[in-house]
Formats: sequence, structure tokens, C-alpha cells
Amino acid sequence: MDHVTTLNQRIEARTARLAIVGQGYVGLPVAVEFAATGFSVTGLDTDPDRVAALSFGRSCSPDVTNTDLMALLREGRYQATTDFGVLERSDVVIICVPTPLRKSKDPDIACVVAAGEAVAARFRPGQLVVLESTTYPGTTDELLLPMFRARRARIGEDLFLAFSPERIDPGNSIFKVRDIPNVVGGVTPACTRLAAALYSTVVPRVHEVSSPKVAELAKLYENVFRNVNIALANEFALMCQRLEVSTKEVIDAAATKPFGFMPFYPGPGIGGHCIPVDPLYLSWKMRLNGYEARFIALADDINRAMPDHVVELVTDGLNGRRRAVNGARILALGVAYKRGVGDIRESPALEIIENLSRKGAEVAYVDPHVPAITLDGAVLKAAELTEGELAAADCVLILTDHPEFDYRRVVETAALVVDTRNATWGMPAPAGRVLRF
Ligand SMILES: NC(=O)c1ccc[n+]([C@@H]2O[C@H](COP(=O)([O-])OP(=O)(O)OC[C@H]3O[C@@H](n4cnc5c(N)ncnc54)[C@H](O)[C@@H]3O)[C@@H](O)[C@H]2O)c1
Repeated sequence: MDHVTTLNQRIEARTARLAIVGQGYVGLPVAVEFAATGFSVTGLDTDPDRVAALSFGRSCSPDVTNTDLMALLREGRYQATTDFGVLERSDVVIICVPTPLRKSKDPDIACVVAAGEAVAARFRPGQLVVLESTTYPGTTDELLLPMFRARRARIGEDLFLAFSPERIDPGNSIFKVRDIPNVVGGVTPACTRLAAALYSTVVPRVHEVSSPKVAELAKLYENVFRNVNIALANEFALMCQRLEVSTKEVIDAAATKPFGFMPFYPGPGIGGHCIPVDPLYLSWKMRLNGYEARFIALADDINRAMPDHVVELVTDGLNGRRRAVNGARILALGVAYKRGVGDIRESPALEIIENLSRKGAEVAYVDPHVPAITLDGAVLKAAELTEGELAAADCVLILTDHPEFDYRRVVETAALVVDTRNATWGMPAPAGRVLRF
């Protein structure tokens, strides 16, 4: 029997053995989803602490409960390991490793290279390898493909290689891995078909495209779209402030149009491992092709200037109360980059707190998802959101709209509130006491 038929049958029967490389916000939910549908799945990670925690049933993702993880561990359908030997025994390998930026803002593709080399070094005829990490167009063809060719793999015959971007939104209670269609682009039609067969076992719909590059670009277009629209909302907030109207009121009014409009809202800046990072993967690649991606550059400029704008708002608010930033007690609510999660990667809250501290403010923070942060080399532990903390603060600065915060109490108790998320929207307060976007 040829490799395509064998692998297809194993996927259909759920007897294919899966290895998911990288067990973070993406890799763990993906692994759990495949395990829950009947596959035997191994989560492979280089971080021994993470692997130890997972092996004890302690999840590192808001989308996987400890109970679900424990059940799959007990049934023997999921296991975590640091042993790369598992790759040789796997029929399917999915790569979900980080793709951050260097300090220079160029792509740092080192984890994909390391994972790709580890998989290629253990290549066994009959394997399907899928890259899920968000990356620049061409990564699968230009970086991964040669690694397998060097091992004498015959692509589309005994090794099947595809790109399928992950679209998970960690902490989103409505859309989980199993609710989001997958885009799949294989190096050959057989690669696409096998990858599509694999994802069809867990997601509602698979959209096949003609190449890995199209799939890589589709993911980047999604995130550039989000980045640019957030930038537009942020710039709109700067304009509305000068015109003395509420940005949210304007956007909510525009959003009543039932077609051709999708609301995005301003905030303190963009964070997380995707929106501030991914567009720069595309602009880097385009620069190599002699093209400057202007929308991406402009959006990046606007979004990255938002933390300074927030510091300015706090300064103005305190000024209105005849207070200086220097010596002011500021209580920041939320440091995670978005509500409901504990992820502080690229979080604008950190930059804002750092800048306020450098100006002499005494900053404390509250975040039920983030017990401690490190700023300028010093560890700052989270405070409790008590009546005392609220009353003692010269300014309460809302940076993440976690659902756990009692915003009404904040507005009633605090001397000054700067609300960068419109979490206190609609709550009455005396003039000048609550500053919102
Ligand atoms: N976090 C998101 O919201 C999200 C959403 C969609 C796509 N993505 C993309 O998915 C990819 C993974 O992101 P993430 O948020 O899961 O990252 P993460 O940092 O949460 O997890 C990555 C894991 O990979 C491990 N790792 C690193 N190098 C490895 C290697 N060579 N071999 C084995 N394990 C290795 C790390 O120890 C870590 O546990 C990125 O490309 C990201 O852009 C992320």
C-alpha cells in the first residue's frame, strides 16, 4: 500500500500517532483536541518545567482545564515529553513553536529552524509534517522543505509537508480550536489532501489552498487586518479627544450599520504574541523583495505610540487635580495584554507602568491572572483590589478590562480614573473624574 493510503486510513481510524512540537498557548489546545477525538498524542516541548507540569495534569492554557488534561493523561491518550525520540515513532508531526521578533524587529525564526531540523533528522517515510506557527510567506517552501530534501525525503510520496495556520484566540470562550475552520496549503496536492483529512477530524471546515505560501499569507492578512483596524480606532481616539467626543460613542453608532462595517475599539496599545509581531514578519519579507509595506508601518507607528498617549492622559488627569506624576500613587488595573488571560508578552501595560515609574510615580498593580511582573530588573508583586488601595490611589489606571474587576466600585471610590478600555462606559461620575477614550 502506498504511503498516502496508509496514512489516510490511520487518520480516519484515529490510529495515527501524533506529536505536537511546542506545548504553549497553541500547541496544548491542539494536542488536547486531537487526543479528545481519539488519537494518541504526545506533546513535545523543550521546557522541562512545562512538561513536568503537564504530566501532572497542570494546564498552561486558559483553553484547557486541568480536569480535561488529567482525564486524557489517565486514558493514555495524551502524554508530554522532552524526548525528541518520539518524532521517529510519530505518523503526524505538528509544529507550534514561537515566532517572536528580534530586538531589531526582524523575525526570529530560530525555534522553527530548531524544531524543523529535529523533525527532519528523524524523518521516517510515511510521515505528515504540518507547520502551524505564524511566519513569513515562504517559510515552509524555503526553510522546511530543503531540510527534508536533504534527508532524501520524496515530498508528496513518502513525506507530506503542509502549512496550516493556527487561529486560536486564547481565553475566547465561544470559539475554541474545534469551532474554527482551518486553512491548509500543502507542498503538493497529496500533502494538502492528507493535512486536510487530518484537520477534518477536529475542525468544522477545512479550506484548501494551492500552496503553503497562500496559507502563510492568509494568516498574515488576518492579523494585519486586525492590526490596521486597531490602529485606525486608536488614531480615531486621538482625533475624538481633540474634538471632545467619546470615541466609543462614535464607533458604537457607526456599528449600527448592518453591513460593510466591523467595530474595532481603541486601547492602550497592542500586545500578545500575534498582533504586534506577525505583521512585521510580512513587512520584513516584503523589504527583501524591494517593497515597503506602508499600511503595516503606519499602523505599527500609531499603535506603538499609544502607551505614551496613556501616560499623557494620566499626567493631564493628575494635573487637573493639581498633582504631579512625580510622587503620585497610581494603581494599575490589569497588566495582561487582553482580558481574561495572564499573557503579558508585548503587553503595553508594562511599558506604561515602567514610564510612569521612571517619572517618579509610585505604581502598584492588580491582576488576578498575573501574580508578579519584572520591571527594570525588579520584581513587583500584584496587590489586592481593596477599598483601601482604591482610596489611597491618586489615579486608578484601567489597562486590561478583566471581568473580575468591580468597575462600579472603582468609579465610586477612586479620586481619578483613567480608563483605556472603556470598561466604565455608561457609569456616571463627576466631570473630570473619569477619563476615557
Ligand atoms: N498565542 C496565540 O494567541 C497564537 C494564536 C495563533 C497563532 N499563534 C502562533 O503559534 C505559535 C506558537 O505560539 P504560542 O503562543 O503557543 O507560544 P508559546 O510560547 O505559548 O509556546 C511555545 C512552546 O514551544 C516550546 N518550544 C520552543 N522551541 C521549541 C522546540 N524547538 N521544540 C519543542 N518545543 C519548543 C516552548 O518551550 C513553549 O512551551 C507562534 O508562531 C504564534 O505566532 C499564537
